Amino acid sequence: MSERILIVDDDVDSLKLIGLMLQRQGYEVLVASTGQQALAKAKNDRPDLIILDIMMPDMDGYEVCRRLRHDPTTQPIPIIMFTARAMVDDKVAGFEAGADDYLTKPTHPAELASRIKAILARSAAQNRAAGSHALTVGFIGAKGGLGTTTLAVNVAAALGQNDPTILTDFRPGVGTIGLSLGFGRSTGIANLLSRPASEITPRAIENEIATHNSGLRLLLSSARPKETLLMITPDSASMIVRHLRTLARNVVVDLGPSLTRLSARILQEAELTVLTVEPTRIGLTMANDLMHELDQIGISESRISIVLVNRAQSSLAVPWQEAEKILNHPMTAIISPAPEVAFQAAEAGVPIVLFQPNAIVASQFTKLAEEISTRSRVMAGTGNT
Ligand SMILES: Nc1ncnc2c1ncn2[C@@H]1O[C@H](COP(=O)(O)OP(=O)(O)OP(=O)(O)O)[C@@H](O)[C@H]1O
Ligand SMILES: [Mg+2]
Repeated sequence: MSERILIVDDDVDSLKLIGLMLQRQGYEVLVASTGQQALAKAKNDRPDLIILDIMMPDMDGYEVCRRLRHDPTTQPIPIIMFTARAMVDDKVAGFEAGADDYLTKPTHPAELASRIKAILARSAAQNRAAGSHALTVGFIGAKGGLGTTTLAVNVAAALGQNDPTILTDFRPGVGTIGLSLGFGRSTGIANLLSRPASEITPRAIENEIATHNSGLRLLLSSARPKETLLMITPDSASMIVRHLRTLARNVVVDLGPSLTRLSARILQEAELTVLTVEPTRIGLTMANDLMHELDQIGISESRISIVLVNRAQSSLAVPWQEAEKILNHPMTAIISPAPEVAFQAAEAGVPIVLFQPNAIVASQFTKLAEEISTRSRVMAGTGNT
């Protein structure tokens, strides 16, 4: 796949000249002649590199550069400033605005070409490194309907406040994250799966990612029943998650309440499994069975965090100390009943941790996110992935 370069210049001759040269070298070329156009194309077409002129009528190159750096979706794209302004101050301003390199016109085409090559090679290496440092955390419920999705959404939102985070809903046909965050019927995963596997590229995936107002990025399934008929194989699911790891620091996956071939594969590849349980005899029995099966497929207890979710206040609930004994495993977190705030946040389309950050349940989610982050980094560090 050829790399895609966006050239931004208000001078048409310049655009043509550089464009032709880059095309001849096998790059795919996009052009923009105003700052606004450049911002729109950078966001929608996700170039691998931007060559940016400084003096343009609507918005200067420094401003374009700052805005590109401000938006998480365009923030990682390398930028070369290419301009007739050759003063040291101009260069300093360029680097301060976030440029990766600075070239003054006229430049020998061979020099431009070699700088482009060097920067693309460096950013490809950085992308690979980012992928290898990324974390995947899978959420699975010991039983349906006990708050697994709510937990995944809030942990992802809390993680997303510190690091680029993608939350993905691997439940075509029964996905509820889109609806709970105000996205209506989102079909990102379904769109990807309707393509041949070879076309499920990082760029194709990025194009299906929706961004919540909070900055949290989402790859969603819808709750349309016909999506359950989609052929989502463990291979395609694994490929999607691997690509997502190159696009964010944390990848949070909602796998719902069942251990299938697909969820098994994702959990095997994840640094950490978060298992939600409810404090009832039935719920704890199911959790025990699930842990036993996870162990059989190579997901040992050390890679599992158990979260006890108390959706209702009940004197009949099994106390957490007893739940720990039954499961022979400590609870990483205990979530309090919060029906009102859970309902209101879902109606508002906002995760609880952002909707009511001071609620007790919000601090429980945030604390859990911190623990998950620390713990999975330790797991990743020991190579136990
Ligand atoms: N701590 C809580 N206290 C009270 N209600 C909660 C709590 N957490 C979640 N809920 C509510 O419980 C309901 C089910 O939550 P959620 O959809 O997260 O469960 P789930 O386990 O993902 O369900 P499914 O098995 O259908 O995927 C929702 O209405 C949600 O708002
Ligand atoms: Mg759910």
